[in-house]
Amino acid sequence: MKIVIGVTGASGAALAAETLRQLRAAGAETHLVMTGGAHIAIAHELGPNAAAAMRGAASFAYDARELGAPLASGSFGADAMAVVPCSMRSLAAIAHGFGDNLLTRAADVMLKERRRLVLVPREAPLHEGHLKAMLALARMGAIVAPPVPPFYTKPQSVEDIVREIAARVVAWLGLEPGEAMTRWQGAPGMACEGD
Ligand SMILES: Cc1cc2nc3c(=O)[nH]c(=O)nc-3n(C[C@H](O)[C@H](O)[C@H](O)COP(=O)(O)O)c2cc1C
Repeated sequence: MKIVIGVTGASGAALAAETLRQLRAAGAETHLVMTGGAHIAIAHELGPNAAAAMRGAASFAYDARELGAPLASGSFGADAMAVVPCSMRSLAAIAHGFGDNLLTRAADVMLKERRRLVLVPREAPLHEGHLKAMLALARMGAIVAPPVPPFYTKPQSVEDIVREIAARVVAWLGLEPGEAMTRWQGAPGMACEGD
């Protein structure tokens, strides 16, 4: 599968790196787009060499200023795209059709071509404008999935949380995340008092 991964300047660079790692393990062809803000956040959270390592982990990598890159067009034919993590700036731009850089343009292409778009917005708390943008995107068919940990997996480390969230992004993109994702097996006998 041909997957576009957009990385913005929101907190959560580790989620992007892990999503790329899992996509590679799943055999996807990955097209990575990083904004200028992403480079700042990645360097701050993961270190000065992390952005280069992420570019190396992708099949193809682009700067968000490269508006002439193939993924700016519907004819590129990506199967799905995730923006992970997604800043409120990029979220708003995508919600309102601002194709002002390669990341927001590629996301706009996914929406107009009715292809799968997974957004992982990271901000807290959220104001009305953020929520309105998410509602608009959900109505346009995007999967809006904030990076909320599945605590029922009983994570022991930050790495566990990052792996589980990334695995869900991979699954929403339409790929099999394999052992990276712990699935709820059900809990026989678990019931609410009074039901
Ligand atoms: C270390 C760091 C963490 C940030 N975290 C967030 C965040 O979680 N959410 C957010 O919306 N913006 C966050 N920002 C601000 C964005 O990087 C900024 O709004 C930027 O213009 C986003 O542009 P982009 O979407 O083109 O990357 C953060 C900035 C820095 C430097």
